[in-house]
Amino acid sequence: MTNGKGRDIKPASGKLGVLLPGMGAVATTFVAGVEAARQGIAKPIGSLTQMGTIRLGKRTDNRSPLVKDFVPLARLEDIEFGGWDVYPDSAYEAAKKAGVLDASHLEPLRGFLEGVKPWPAVFDPQYVKKLNGPNVKKGKSKRDLAEQVSDDIARFKKERNLDRMVMVWCGSTEVYRQAGEVHSSLAAFEKGLDESHPDILPSMIYAYCAIKEGIPYNNGAPNLSGDFPAMVELAKKTGTPISGKDFKTGQTFMKTLLAPGFKARLLGMNGWYSTNILGNRDGEVLDDPESFKSKEVSKLGVLEQILQPQLYPDLYGKIHHVVRINYYPPRGDNKEGWDNIDIFGWMGYPMQIKVDFLCRDSILAAPIVLDLAIFSDLASRCGMSGIQEWLSFYFKSPQTAPGLYPEHDVFIQLMKLKNTLRHLRGEELITHLGLEYYD
Ligand SMILES: NC(=O)c1ccc[n+]([C@@H]2O[C@H](COP(=O)([O-])OP(=O)(O)OC[C@H]3O[C@@H](n4cnc5c(N)ncnc54)[C@H](O)[C@@H]3O)[C@@H](O)[C@H]2O)c1
Repeated sequence: MTNGKGRDIKPASGKLGVLLPGMGAVATTFVAGVEAARQGIAKPIGSLTQMGTIRLGKRTDNRSPLVKDFVPLARLEDIEFGGWDVYPDSAYEAAKKAGVLDASHLEPLRGFLEGVKPWPAVFDPQYVKKLNGPNVKKGKSKRDLAEQVSDDIARFKKERNLDRMVMVWCGSTEVYRQAGEVHSSLAAFEKGLDESHPDILPSMIYAYCAIKEGIPYNNGAPNLSGDFPAMVELAKKTGTPISGKDFKTGQTFMKTLLAPGFKARLLGMNGWYSTNILGNRDGEVLDDPESFKSKEVSKLGVLEQILQPQLYPDLYGKIHHVVRINYYPPRGDNKEGWDNIDIFGWMGYPMQIKVDFLCRDSILAAPIVLDLAIFSDLASRCGMSGIQEWLSFYFKSPQTAPGLYPEHDVFIQLMKLKNTLRHLRGEELITHLGLEYYD
C-alpha cells in the first residue's frame, strides 16, 4: 500500500562513472568484484543494493522485493571506472600487489583490469608520510591542481559517454586536521586554493572538484576531506549529495553491533580494548602517528555516542576505551582485530567478552564502495542534496547537520536507510509498532 507521495526520481538511464581517488587494495577489489559479478564469476556479497531486500507494508502482506527492484538504481553493467593514484600501476598490477584476490579470480579479469589505469594524483607526502610515488601532478598552485582534476573528470565523461558520475575516496588516510578558518566558508576555501593554503589537503581538492560539478562525494577514509562547512555550503549550492567518512568494516562494525546490545540490556562497561594487526599498505600508512590520529578519532567516537554516558553515568560513566593498529607485514590485507570488553552485570559483578575477528579488510570494504556509489547516485537523481544522513550505515564517522549527534547503532542506521527508500517511493514507513495485528 503506498501513500502516493513518492518523490520524482530521474531514471538511471545511461552510464554511471565511478571516480576513485586512490586505487589501492579497496578500490581494485571493488572494481574486480563488479567486473566479476558482470561476468558471472562471483556474486556481489555484502552489497545491499545488489542482494538486499526491503519489507513493504504489513508483515502479513509478504512483500519483500529486492532493493534494486524497488528503487531505480544504476545497473552494474552501466558502471565505468576512472581514478587517480600516486603509483602508475593498472588496476590489475595494483590488485596483484595488494594480494587480496587470488589468481583464480584475477586472471580471468586481467584484460579488463589492465584497462583501468590511474591518472596522475594530487599528492604531497607531507600529508601521507609513508608514501612517495611518481604518478603525481605538478601545479603552480592548489587551484591549478584542482583545475587539472576537473579536466580529468571532464575528459573521462566525454570519452566514456557518461550520463552521471559519483566519487568515492579510496585513497590513504591523510594526517589529522581539524576544520579551521580556511574551511569555514566556500569563499575562504577558494581563496585558500589560490594561495595554496597548507591546510588544504589533496583529498579536499578532489572533493571540491566533484562537488563543484554536482558529483556526489563519499569518503572512505577518516580524513576531513568533504566534512567541513565550505564543502557543505558548496554541496547545497550545486545540489550535490555528500555523505560521511571512513568505511565501517571490521572492528568498528563489530563494535556498533555489540555495544547497542549491551546497552539494550543495561549491562555496564568498564573498558573496551581493541587492537589490530594489519600488513597492507593501509597498515603501513597508519603506522605514522599523524595518519593514525585521524583513524583513532574516527574509531573512538562510536562507543561514546552509542552508550550515552551522560544518561547512564552508573553504567558507562568511566570507560577505558583504547584502540591500537599495529603494522605487521606477514598478514597483508588479512587483518586480525582483537577486542577485550570488560562489562558488569547485576550488583556490579564483572564479566569479560573476547572477540577475535580474522577478517579481510578489502573484502569487507568493496561492497560498501559499491553501495555508496549506487545510493549516492540515487540521491542525486531524487534531488537530495547536502548531507545524506541515511548513508550513515556505511561509515565510522557519519556526517550530520551541525549540532546533531551522529547515530552509530548499525540497526538504527539500517532502519533509517530503508525508511528513506520507502519514503522515496511513497511507501508506509515501518516503525515496528505493530499494534494493528492485535486489534
Ligand atoms: N579496508 C577497510 O576495511 C577500510 C575501512 C575503513 C577505511 N579504509 C580506508 O580506505 C582507504 C583505502 O584503503 P586501502 O586498503 O585500499 O589502502 P591502500 O594503501 O591499498 O590504497 C590507497 C591508495 O591511495 C593512494 N593514494 C594516497 N594518496 C593519494 C592521493 N592524494 N591521490 C590519489 N591516490 C592516493 C595510494 O597510493 C594507494 O594506492 C584508506 O584510507 C583506509 O584507511 C579502509
